[in-house]
Amino acid sequence: MTATPDLTEQHRYPPKVPLVTEVWGVFRSLIAARRNLLEIIPEIATRQPIVSGKTGTVRWHMVMDPDSLRRMLKDRVDDYPKSDVTKNLLRPAIGDSLFIAEGAHWRWQRRAAAPVFSHRNIASLVPIMSAAADATCARLAACPGRADMYQEMVSATFDVISNVTFSGSDAMDSNAVHKAIDAYIAQIGRVSLMDVVGIPTWVPRPSRMFRPNTLKDMKAVADRAIRQREAAGPKSVPDLLDLLLAGEDPETKKRMNTDELRDNLLTFIVAGHETTALTLSWALYLCAFDEPVQDKLRAEAQSVLQGRTATAEDCPRLPYTEQVIKETLRLYPPAAIVSRTAQAHDTLSGREIRPGDTVMMPFYALHRNHALWPDPDRFDPERFAKGAKYDRFSYLPFGDGPRVCIGASFAMTEATVILSTLISKFRFKRVPGKDPKPVMLLTLRPDGGVHLKVEPV
Ligand code: HEM
Repeated sequence: MTATPDLTEQHRYPPKVPLVTEVWGVFRSLIAARRNLLEIIPEIATRQPIVSGKTGTVRWHMVMDPDSLRRMLKDRVDDYPKSDVTKNLLRPAIGDSLFIAEGAHWRWQRRAAAPVFSHRNIASLVPIMSAAADATCARLAACPGRADMYQEMVSATFDVISNVTFSGSDAMDSNAVHKAIDAYIAQIGRVSLMDVVGIPTWVPRPSRMFRPNTLKDMKAVADRAIRQREAAGPKSVPDLLDLLLAGEDPETKKRMNTDELRDNLLTFIVAGHETTALTLSWALYLCAFDEPVQDKLRAEAQSVLQGRTATAEDCPRLPYTEQVIKETLRLYPPAAIVSRTAQAHDTLSGREIRPGDTVMMPFYALHRNHALWPDPDRFDPERFAKGAKYDRFSYLPFGDGPRVCIGASFAMTEATVILSTLISKFRFKRVPGKDPKPVMLLTLRPDGGVHLKVEPV
């Protein structure tokens, strides 16, 4: 008789953040939030529909109730604009672009940019994603053994985003943008609790000392790429920059000026590059964590791809790959907390909301809420098998409603192409003692990287 293996917590569950179980004072919360923003989420947020509090004079709420989230994101969207915090953090880099604009200024930009992300346009950009997958395979094959798959995925997704935005500009330029963006994210990344709850912007933030050159360099490179493209005309396969240059609001016929083009281009890079890299590196970690899942994924990839790199036509034939990516986004949503500033009196999950309250949507806690997901901390791609039922507003890695992520299909396609190609060619194994710890800077990152053993299959 074989003994049943002893499945300890550590073996059954991939890493999670130890959430707070006691009420913390302001000072302790501030310190924790600077270290790891997720640590301000109380453990009860994974069991309750709403948690409220007050820090200083600021009232805040964390909402984990699908009905209330539907109300905020869809039914009463104008009463819950993006929080002042979000805008203050991002405006220096991406201006009043699609991501943070409100009202009419948001609406026309969204209408002008929507065709850029149509199914047909994304399909025409897939060869760039396949090339990035190939380049990663070549790097891994050249030095087998151990790799930091987080760094690998950051390189791969940056190749993709720079080739669909700045292609044609020289490599030095795109490296300069990459460096500038990483430096920017590192500088603003340490979001403090003061920011999250919305303490006035005039209170000095020690972490908010931008090196002005970082932003100036980034914008200068983007401006140059736009001018070059305007002069040279569109490429044979139009990329995001061409499509944005051609973009027009179908209602007002308005087009973007150079500043608006640049701000939106940088928005696509800031919003799309690291988030997709995180999805892929957490997915690879989870495959190493759960070898039977990895084997099933490899069987699907190998039977569909037959040794090739994945293409646009392969994506609909890789349903298990999509399940694994969706389950990864549930456990490690890159945008782990987004927040709004309430504009009107309202009631959410029985709680009074007043104008000026900060209302957070901690997707990390929503996706691990015990009332919504059975055994929520367990990795189980079957949750997303065909026909599985869950409330749409209990799973929001891309948000929802009119402000839903415009790049969601782009990101899902890119993740499918890269993950299936890598898994079909390599086996990934955990390195003992090197499991990543989830840390929230601007996004939910694996602290210390994702170090895995990589073997060709
Ligand atoms: C796995 C990858 C990604 C994740 C998890 C993600 C997540 C999100 C989320 C949660 C939002 C809504 C934020 C809110 O409501 O406050 C959002 C909005 C947005 N995302 Fe993404 N995103 C990803 C990839 C991308 C890509 C590839 C692009 C572009 C190339 C992109 C561009 C945007 C833009 C422009 C918005 C603002 C849309 C608007 O307000 O109208 N994202 N994203």
